[in-house]
Amino acid sequence: MNLFKMRRGLPDLDDLALDAIAPSTTVNPSREYLMPSVERPQQVFVRGQGSWLWDSADRAYLDFTQGRGANSLGHSPSALVSAIAEQAQALINPGFALHNRGMLSLAARLCQLTGSDQAYLLNTGTEACEAAIKLARKWGQRHRAGASRIIVASNACHGRSLATISASDSSTLTNRFEPQLPGFSHVPFNDLAALHAAVDARTVAIMLEPIQSEAGVIPATANYLKGVERLCRELGILLIFDEVQTGLGRCGQLLVEQSCDVRADIVVLGKGLGGEYRWPLYSPGALPVVSTWVS
Ligand SMILES: Cc1ncc(COP(=O)(O)O)c(C=O)c1O
Repeated sequence: MNLFKMRRGLPDLDDLALDAIAPSTTVNPSREYLMPSVERPQQVFVRGQGSWLWDSADRAYLDFTQGRGANSLGHSPSALVSAIAEQAQALINPGFALHNRGMLSLAARLCQLTGSDQAYLLNTGTEACEAAIKLARKWGQRHRAGASRIIVASNACHGRSLATISASDSSTLTNRFEPQLPGFSHVPFNDLAALHAAVDARTVAIMLEPIQSEAGVIPATANYLKGVERLCRELGILLIFDEVQTGLGRCGQLLVEQSCDVRADIVVLGKGLGGEYRWPLYSPGALPVVSTWVS
């Protein structure tokens, strides 16, 4: 399939090098009203195609970050543009409390592909990780005498809400907005003995990224993941995989757990699933997919 019907030819790399020296002259809207929550370059971007972005001075940039890790299909693929336009003409936002066809077929497809029972659709990876935490705690209330603690790994990243900051340990977090929420124990990654030692009667789940992202692309070994799965089964606690970065075929198979022949009870997906488009009909930013264990 031709994803990109290019509206114009791609820029020559020599021209780009010359361009980089020339200052941008176009007047852009003021930035003063936008809270500077992250550091951004001065340029204002107006369009994208495939791997390229153009700023308001019509200078082209090869985009190595692609929606900060969210895009899997590049900028404005024509198949996506048509699908969004078609859906917008039919129905934009019936509300989350009503069924819509997109929501039902996406949930069914995800469950069939991942061998899960049910999917919960949310807007971001952060919300999806929070939902997984809530789901595990609900399961703990029902099946483990109210156990609620979740063991997570050092240098993990599970999002930027207050709960997921507490679950995360990434060094890119310069402010942790203390006090943190209780209920998380951090153990070294890829260390099964440390994980085992941290489990007690209050533990309800272990939550891990199969490949740590913000920590610097650090894979869990297959032996470690298999050991963690066995530990969870033996001790009767839940295994949650945060596949927000790694899922949706980004590491070969649909999920990393499939390539390691390991099965989590809750899988959290995001990024590549919805490309982080805040599109209300599908709410596709992310979702935890829940298997039979959790009822
Ligand atoms: C492994 C992992 N989980 C969760 C998140 C949070 O996802 P989002 O940025 O969609 O809120 C991230 C974000 O980078 C992530 O890398």
